[in-house]
Amino acid sequence: METHRLDLVLPYLRCPVCGGALGRRAGAVHCAAGHGFDIARQGHLTLLAGGSRAGRGDTADMVAARAEFLGRGHYRPIAEALTGVVTSGYAAGAGPLVVDLAGGTGHYLAAVLDALPHAVGVDVELSPYAARRAARAHPRMAAMRADVWQPLPLATGSAAVVLSVFGPRNAPEIARVLHPDGRLVVVSPAPDHLREIVGPLGMLDVAPDKDARLARQLADFAVTAEEPVRYRAPLTHDDIVHEVRMGPSAHHVDDAALTAAVARLPEPLAVTVAVGVTAYRYVGGRQSPVGVGSG
Ligand SMILES: C[S@@+](CC[C@H](N)C(=O)[O-])C[C@H]1O[C@@H](n2cnc3c(N)ncnc32)[C@H](O)[C@@H]1O
Repeated sequence: METHRLDLVLPYLRCPVCGGALGRRAGAVHCAAGHGFDIARQGHLTLLAGGSRAGRGDTADMVAARAEFLGRGHYRPIAEALTGVVTSGYAAGAGPLVVDLAGGTGHYLAAVLDALPHAVGVDVELSPYAARRAARAHPRMAAMRADVWQPLPLATGSAAVVLSVFGPRNAPEIARVLHPDGRLVVVSPAPDHLREIVGPLGMLDVAPDKDARLARQLADFAVTAEEPVRYRAPLTHDDIVHEVRMGPSAHHVDDAALTAAVARLPEPLAVTVAVGVTAYRYVGGRQSPVGVGSG
């Protein structure tokens, strides 16, 4: 049987139905209880339990816009800061697994894997379009479709690093899958992120209480490192359209209005990129395994 990128992370994956360990036979994985999950032709594994009602994540257009925007390097300083924070806090004893929750196309996880030559990664995504891209983003990265709001199909204590970059976070599940010496590394936008375009283009604002919400959500985690990233990226009109189309504002801005509003902006436009990159360790009580992920 040919090797598959999934084989690198399979020991850490768990059946989303019963929590059992998984083995691969050709185009599918199974647990000992006989629950089976197909590996898509494009390389990703779907581990969605029947009860998930989360929808399908980002659309094909959003994912294509994200891939195009990120591929132009406008967020490279974010990837560099993230990689620096991850590598400086990485405990080799925590094992090789890096998990990117809502990891999109695998862009940030690929940068982290490049800097950690012994690590293996898994991109956890709801969107099949993002998972397809992540499945071929890096030779040591596997991609799986799963819902981060459900119990994660990952073994308890399996992750040396969990990444959460502009994505939804499920703190109890992150606590469960992190190794005791592991780190959660979060990238979240500052209130003035993209401020030159948010107003003129009617994009969704960063919620003013975002920091307080993050602190509440991660009350059982202690900050171990923090790196603010702030610069102005010179964006063309085309870049700005991709930036709007790749995020949640895509659902709120119609095409014609967007084209007209972008045409009124100077080109290039220096746009503020302002995010925080923060590493945490879990300091709450160790949780007993819930549903999936035991062992
Ligand atoms: C703003 S994007 C960030 C993607 C990536 N972290 C990046 O920065 O390039 C949010 C991502 O979360 C995914 N997503 C949304 N809800 C999800 C869920 N419940 N479980 C897993 N992924 C989810 C979307 O499909 C989308 O790719």
